[in-house]
Amino acid sequence: METAFKNYRELIDKRLHSFLEEETERSKYCRENSKYPYTLFDPLNYIMSGGGKRVRPILVLLSCEAFGGQINNAIDAAIAVEILHNFTLVHDDIMDNANTRRGKETIHRKWDVNAAILVGDELIGLSYRSLLRAKTENITGVLRAFTDGVIEVCEGQALDKEFEVSADVAIDDYKIMIRKKTAELLRTSSVMGAIIGNADENGIRSISSYSENIGLAFQIQDDLLDVIADEGEFGKKIGGDILERKKTFLYLKALEILDGKRRDDFMFLYNSPNSSEDKIKQIVKLYNEICVIGSAKDEIAAYTAKANKNLECINNNSAKKLLENFSDMLLNRSY
Ligand code: IPE
Ligand code: IPE
Ligand code: MG
Ligand code: MG
Ligand code: MG
Repeated sequence: METAFKNYRELIDKRLHSFLEEETERSKYCRENSKYPYTLFDPLNYIMSGGGKRVRPILVLLSCEAFGGQINNAIDAAIAVEILHNFTLVHDDIMDNANTRRGKETIHRKWDVNAAILVGDELIGLSYRSLLRAKTENITGVLRAFTDGVIEVCEGQALDKEFEVSADVAIDDYKIMIRKKTAELLRTSSVMGAIIGNADENGIRSISSYSENIGLAFQIQDDLLDVIADEGEFGKKIGGDILERKKTFLYLKALEILDGKRRDDFMFLYNSPNSSEDKIKQIVKLYNEICVIGSAKDEIAAYTAKANKNLECINNNSAKKLLENFSDMLLNRSY
């Protein structure tokens, strides 16, 4: 994972760094003139220098190249989506009561909720500032795709929270929710890259389906890693979804498999306010026993295969190979 797409990641980090440097200059000016809103700049720098896999900006660049476009034209859109993604994480951590992210304390814990809300808002503004620099004749198309992505994430996050307290969520509802909260931003990334790369309608359609399927696989895998990953490597609390009573793929699949008293007991335990490590252990043990871990792995593999099939009409073979490698990298990730 560290070495795959290293050159893309370096390019992204370099541009992100120089973009944020402008903000740092602004913050220095504010500091010297006693106008320093440290409650904004300090956590902003903290979240933006805290790492991350850079999945979405890589997807922007690969999608641009797939249609013969120049990376340099897409790099500002690429970092825009990464900045936007970081906004979603900061607010998501408030909503999910998460204490750690990328192995560090979350912003609302290290500072407070107000600081985290404001940093998130600022990041949206900054993401548009970067996006407006994308070099394309169809900036309207790019802005539309990006804006649609923002709206979809918010709707998906609302569903995610509604589902926490609903006893009536089916796997189909879950799929709608994860498409919105996660897959749409990956789709947005590809569509923006393809537009900047001057792809035709067919090309945009194919790459859009590819990244939507990759996005669905990505969220199911995130749910899976929440119970099977190594906490140090994952950088988030293992069992965090269980403590928040999230309607994850694993939970919903378990409900499909179990019946009678076992099903009732499982539902009762999962939805109880108990937030002990023992509860996590019991749930994970059951997930293993009834093979929902395996079902999740199968589902992730199926969406990834479906995604790769969407690449069939892309003529540029080396670009297609890169996208397939990208799918593989995500499929094999451990954080
Ligand atoms: C986490 O996204 C949120 C989800 C949509 C699952 P990532 O797993 O891409 O987070 P970072 O940026 O690599 O930390
Ligand atoms: C991610 O869902 C969705 C967004 C951040 C929009 P999660 O809540 O599962 O993401 P993590 O696991 O906290 O990264
Ligand atoms: Mg969440
Ligand atoms: Mg979360
Ligand atoms: Mg998660």
